[in-house]
Amino acid sequence: MSETLKIEYNGNTFELPVIIGSEGEKAVDITRLRQETGFITYDPGYANTGSCKSCITFMSGEKGILRYRGIPVEQLAEHSSFVETTYLLIHGVLPTRRELNHFSVLLNDHSLVHEDMREFFQNFPRASHPMAVLSSMVNALRSFYPELHTVEEEMDMTVTRLLSKVRTMAALSYKISRGHKVVYPRPDLSYCANFLNMMFDTPVRPYVIDNDLTKALNVFWILHADHEQNCSTSAVRLVGSGRVTLYAAISAGIAALWGPLHGGANQAVVEMLQALADSGASVKSLVARAKDKNDPFRLMGFGHRVYKTYDPRAKIMKAVCDTVIRKLNIKDPLLDLAKALEEVALQDPYFIDHHLYPNVDFYSGIVLRALGIPTNMFPVMFAIGRLPGWIAQWKESMDDPEWRLCRPRQVYIGPPERAYIDIDER
Ligand code: CMC
Repeated sequence: MSETLKIEYNGNTFELPVIIGSEGEKAVDITRLRQETGFITYDPGYANTGSCKSCITFMSGEKGILRYRGIPVEQLAEHSSFVETTYLLIHGVLPTRRELNHFSVLLNDHSLVHEDMREFFQNFPRASHPMAVLSSMVNALRSFYPELHTVEEEMDMTVTRLLSKVRTMAALSYKISRGHKVVYPRPDLSYCANFLNMMFDTPVRPYVIDNDLTKALNVFWILHADHEQNCSTSAVRLVGSGRVTLYAAISAGIAALWGPLHGGANQAVVEMLQALADSGASVKSLVARAKDKNDPFRLMGFGHRVYKTYDPRAKIMKAVCDTVIRKLNIKDPLLDLAKALEEVALQDPYFIDHHLYPNVDFYSGIVLRALGIPTNMFPVMFAIGRLPGWIAQWKESMDDPEWRLCRPRQVYIGPPERAYIDIDER
């Protein structure tokens, strides 16, 4: 017999169905709550609200687990490529060799962007943040690539276009922002190598592809590929629920990701470490500021809504960071500062009591910096990585018979009804 949860109010008992997920997670189904009781729920930040049933990503905040379609992210980071992980997220299964080759060919075939888009890029003010540019350009893609005939055809093509062109657009915008010659994608290079080449190849200094650095980028993007119902993914699902195009939904996701509490945190971490290095203040003083309730400052790259233990992505990112720094034979003072900061914070009773550990963004900025990515492009790197997750989640919501227009309710606490007062009498 299926389980129920009982609530009692004013002598009446209401029974609500219980849903149990494949990993034993329990939820109470409140879809008929308002109809049967007149109540709605109140949950700012949706910390206790399941907005959907999903087969894509499982994470346990208590145990530090992250799996895509059942496969631990650690195994994907070690053995997979970003393109293969993308296929897994979107199609639900690992591709055969033939399917993977076909997918890679498709990504290559669609990697060019309409030449007219370059005009667009050129006309953005030079100081524009790359996330603002990317969000606008993705939304504009619909105008350059009008609708196709069937829904199936439309979906497959849009997904491929997005995955391929977003990477090209990111590199293109970087080159244009620097006033450099644009580098086109090359069919002989893999997805990640192609991106690095488009970013860093110049007529005077050809970019030399390094397998270790390409692997580091693959891992970086795999670690960002999905994270269930986070802020930007929820934005994609919510905006998509109005039945807009995938381009518009992804554009909303990019805008949501930009914030420093979400995907903009990687940029904020490096800026925080740089400010600390420049000021000469101690790591302890920064930790003290983060604990001070009268100071709005927070330790960027620490804490997570779901993880109450070490973020599994951060563990892998820290190792990638060491590999990249060793490989490039560089010494980054910010890495030393980050490690010192982590050590002090992890021993601090405030951080222990609040379950605050480094998240994925704590070390990722240092990896990107070592690869030569400019700081304001860090959130763009996150966005390229998150794209497969957004697409998979959007696709799942479109195919879900229970998915409805997202439209939360509210508890109104404003003034009760009052009469309009003429302007001369106020
Ligand atoms: N530094 C200092 N105190 C913190 C921090 C931090 N980074 N994060 C949370 N706290 C404290 C907070 O002050 C509060 O304390 P108290 O209960 O005493 O008032 C408590 O921990 C809970 O904070 P919260 O804001 O209710 O927690 P949340 O689950 O809403 O916040 C968070 C999650 C990520 C917004 C937050 O931890 C934060 O602001 N971190 C810094 C920004 C950051 O690194 N963001 C990247 C997240 S990972 C990438 C992604 O997936 O988006």
